[in-house]
Amino acid sequence: MKTLKTAVFGTGFMGRVHLEAIRRNEFVDAVAIAGRTVEAAQRLGAGCSVPTFTADYREILGDPAIDAVHVCTPNALHFSMAKDALLAGKHVMCEKPLAITVPEAEELTTLALKQGVRNAICHNIRFYPMVQQMRSMCESGALGEILVVQGTYFQDWLLYDTDWNWRVDARAAGTSRVLADVGSHWFDLAEHITGLRVTSLCSDLQTFHQTRKKPKQAVETFANKLLGPQDYVETPVDTEDFGAVLFRMGPRTRGSATVSQVSAGRKNRLVIEICGTKSSVAWDQERPDELWVGHRETSNQIFVKDPSLLAPGARTFADLPGGHSEGYDDTFKQIFRRFYSSIRTPGGKPDYPQFADGLRQLKILDAALRSNHARAWVDIAPS
Ligand SMILES: NC(=O)c1ccc[n+]([C@@H]2O[C@H](COP(=O)([O-])OP(=O)(O)OC[C@H]3O[C@@H](n4cnc5c(N)ncnc54)[C@H](O)[C@@H]3O)[C@@H](O)[C@H]2O)c1
Repeated sequence: MKTLKTAVFGTGFMGRVHLEAIRRNEFVDAVAIAGRTVEAAQRLGAGCSVPTFTADYREILGDPAIDAVHVCTPNALHFSMAKDALLAGKHVMCEKPLAITVPEAEELTTLALKQGVRNAICHNIRFYPMVQQMRSMCESGALGEILVVQGTYFQDWLLYDTDWNWRVDARAAGTSRVLADVGSHWFDLAEHITGLRVTSLCSDLQTFHQTRKKPKQAVETFANKLLGPQDYVETPVDTEDFGAVLFRMGPRTRGSATVSQVSAGRKNRLVIEICGTKSSVAWDQERPDELWVGHRETSNQIFVKDPSLLAPGARTFADLPGGHSEGYDDTFKQIFRRFYSSIRTPGGKPDYPQFADGLRQLKILDAALRSNHARAWVDIAPS
């Protein structure tokens, strides 16, 4: 079967993670990188046998030999890059959030369908084996009726007013920061694991730093700790540091989520807990191979990842035997494997999140922004 050729747009944190994970798929070659500069693209591709580097992603789209592209640039560029790629007939793996507004996401979703190409939104966190185990437990009825869905996504890398990233700036990130950046992963998980949909919500957002010290030169994600006071300019901030969301999933299920990028000591702490009428389960992304299972009448359990013990639906998400941890990088390998397999098998049902799922997250985000603005509950249309 043909080896697929792909390209990466963006050379920062995600550009590197995507490139490495692409290279772990045996029937895909990364053949081009687009960066803000040719030098940035060359730096990322150094040692990876990538033949083409450019500062203009459109050059890559003009190459008929390239099957797919990965959009790994700041949020505000996703729409134009993904749209151009779809119009060029490429399959698209787009980083989250899909776009920065609902109409943009709707346009991309419709266009992808019209073009008949594979389209994926990179909600990679679904692809941890223990997340799939939670989903299987919900599906099988092991938890009973789901009553409560709650959790957090806490980070600390934007705690100080000297912390800066393009995510702080609404022109690059969109109107929302923490809800769009990490909240989108949390809500995608909540819906994916439970199979339920958020039907209404009430949110409270807070920007603790009304101004931040912006570095005079561009910095890539997580790189600003290296700068000194002389390198900054005081800049107003228009995106939130924290968000709390109460939500309903249908008539009975209730939930709450808090998201933060200013919580000292919390590096990338995504916790999700689901409480049913029979049992509860909880998962912490920083301990990804473990699942806490809570019972009323017997001892609670720590379920440790072991493919032979996972539910059949979760087993294919684990490549390694028990005791051999599978983490963040592996989730990208898993989602890309399924994305590229689907390109090689036209007609097959995609088993990964698609642009429609990215659109769904933008609708939840839009509702959260409107709710915060109005200080009121907001309904979300089912989709
Ligand atoms: N799935 C995940 O777990 C995850 C994690 C982090 C970030 N993300 C998403 O990935 C995207 C990128 O985030 P990041 O953390 O890698 O940011 P980053 O700042 O580290 O990297 C962004 C890169 O895009 C490049 N870029 C900017 N304009 C460009 C252009 N016109 N052409 C080519 N390259 C350009 C920048 O030079 C930079 O290298 C964001 O949308 C973010 O939400 C997803």
